[in-house]
Order: sequence, then C-alpha cells, then structure tokens
Amino acid sequence: MSKAIYPGSFDPVTYGHLDVIKRSASMFDEVIVGVLSNSAKNPLFSVEERKDMLEEAVKEFDNVSVIAFEGLLIDYMKMNNISVIVRGLRAVTDFEYELQIAQSNRKVSKDTIDTVFLTTGIDYAYLSSSIVREYASYGTDVREFVPDFVARRLQSKYKQ
Ligand code: PNS
Repeated sequence: MSKAIYPGSFDPVTYGHLDVIKRSASMFDEVIVGVLSNSAKNPLFSVEERKDMLEEAVKEFDNVSVIAFEGLLIDYMKMNNISVIVRGLRAVTDFEYELQIAQSNRKVSKDTIDTVFLTTGIDYAYLSSSIVREYASYGTDVREFVPDFVARRLQSKYKQ
C-alpha cells in the first residue's frame, strides 16, 4: 500500500494546498497531511486550529488524514512507516529551498525517504498562506484563496 505525507505549516490551509492534497490523494493509497507544531515561525493559528481547519477541508477524501507532528519530519515518518514526502512547487523561487530540504532528508534518512514534487496548478502559482494572512489582516475578502470557513476564522482572528 502506498503511503505519503504532505507536511507543512498550513497557517492557514489555502486552495493551493488543497489542490496538492487532491492530486496526491489520487496517486497514493493513503495521504497524511502533517501539520508542523513546533514552528519557529510564530504562526497566526495554533496547531490545533490549523489541524481543525485542514480536517474540515479534507473531509471529502476517504484516504486523507491530518496529524500534527513535532521535531524532525523524517523521525515521524520512520516511526509511522512512511517513506514518501509530497511537496508543492509553485515557482522556480521555491525550487532551491525545496531541493535542499529534499536532499538533506534523503541523506539523513540514509536514502530511505524520498520527496515527490507536484507543480502547483497555474491558478494557485501566486498563492501562499502569508499572502492570504496579509490580505485578511487588512480586511480584504480572501474567499477566492481559501474555503469560506477559513476566511471566517481569519476574519475573527484579525478582529481580536
Ligand atoms: O509549509 P512550510 O513551512 O514550507 O513547511 C516546511 C516543513 C514543515 C515541511 C519543514 O520545515 C519541516 O519538515 N520541518 C520539520 C523539521 C525538519 O524535519 N527539519 C529538517 C528539514 S528542514
């Protein structure tokens, strides 16, 4: 049975992430969306909030589940018998960083873990969680970038 993990910060989940999830779900028997919980990035949403939103967003996919992980991704993967990482590539600017992570994960895992890249759909090539947060912080309607319930969570976050 093929199993892959799609890791990220997902702060919050966007239609770009959901596009990658949908496409991976048709390629692998099981896809685990891994929300990084100890990010040094000082996220807007707590790990529980990010996981909640993802669970709501992926509920239509029978073979997709959402977990939160701490520490090294490859340690979580080894413990859970996962050997494939899925990452989305939006543009050339993503490539250098992603290549470095993929190669170091492969090296440190002694070639037991590989990364598969999906090029992001053209409609979402410009999209990132940070751009969504920026627009939402100014009260802009972000429903073309994220599901409605995520847009509402952003709105109430920035009202606080
Ligand atoms: O959505 P992001 O922030 O680009 O995702 C980055 C992520 C979570 C995939 C990466 O930071 C990660 O795997 N972090 C876990 C810690 C780890 O394994 N570090 C070694 C490779 S950088």
